[in-house]
Amino acid sequence: MRFTDKIVLVTGGGQGLGRAAALRFASEGADIAIADTRLDVAHATARDITGMGRRALVISADVSDEGECKRMVEKTMAHFKRLDVTFTNAGIIGTGGIVANMPTENWDQVIAVNLRGTFLTCKYSIPALIASEGMSIVTMASSMAGWDTSLTGAAYMASKEGVSGLTRSLALQLAPYGIRVNAVCPGVIKTRLSFRPDQTEEEWETHYERFSQRIPLRRVGVPEDVAAAVAFLASDEARHITGSMLLIDGGQTLQSWSNAPDDDAYPVNIR
Ligand SMILES: NC(=O)c1ccc[n+]([C@@H]2O[C@H](COP(=O)([O-])OP(=O)(O)OC[C@H]3O[C@@H](n4cnc5c(N)ncnc54)[C@H](O)[C@@H]3O)[C@@H](O)[C@H]2O)c1
Repeated sequence: MRFTDKIVLVTGGGQGLGRAAALRFASEGADIAIADTRLDVAHATARDITGMGRRALVISADVSDEGECKRMVEKTMAHFKRLDVTFTNAGIIGTGGIVANMPTENWDQVIAVNLRGTFLTCKYSIPALIASEGMSIVTMASSMAGWDTSLTGAAYMASKEGVSGLTRSLALQLAPYGIRVNAVCPGVIKTRLSFRPDQTEEEWETHYERFSQRIPLRRVGVPEDVAAAVAFLASDEARHITGSMLLIDGGQTLQSWSNAPDDDAYPVNIR
């Protein structure tokens, strides 16, 4: 119960990693503001939180829009009167592609949601966190922010590397106020992020099953794995941790060309 009566704002809290973090914070005593562009999923998360006996506020907000971000924090403060933790989770993977052929709008969209959205969420949360003598910001980076490389994900990589730099600069800026800023950097986690409309559910499941064989811990991460790390970084247990980038990838990025498996099976045979 590290967040008893604390107020936590989660962007993209309707599904996936944001939803799991919102439920984790609520399970430890927090009341949650859930901001999302999709109100159907945001309301579903809110119902589960109220079912746990905590309060939940649904806010319709696109984090790439400055006015909506400002109102998101104003609504949180008007409703709950304080803000203790902000988790800047909302993000998209984008359509990807080779840079020379990439429509510039695709680049702009990923940077707008993932990087500008994180900046705007922080910009408007900071005064509220300081006024509330709040605890922490947790940002959402990725294993693509320094550990891994994606052939067709240049915009996604650039956005998450940007979040990494923003996180460390903010950690320095907010340290005098006792507010810590850290990033979580997940590897492949099973959510709808990379689900393509042309995929069947079966293909989607098979993709993760195959991928799990390539991860040293032999499993694909689930949202609760990331939520546990977010809650730790946000909590007072992490009181001496700021500006850190916490990798949560089952060892996925430990493999390089020199020790990569020849096929999908990770070769472990230690006797
Ligand atoms: N799933 C992974 O493997 C993985 C790995 C590393 C990092 N991440 C990051 O985690 C975050 C969450 O991803 P997820 O896997 O839960 O994806 P997801 O698609 O399941 O959930 C994302 C949520 O964010 C919301 N959202 C999207 N754009 C928004 C916007 N502009 N404003 C407000 N809300 C918006 C969506 O409606 C959705 O509810 C993203 O930032 C993603 O880059 C995911």
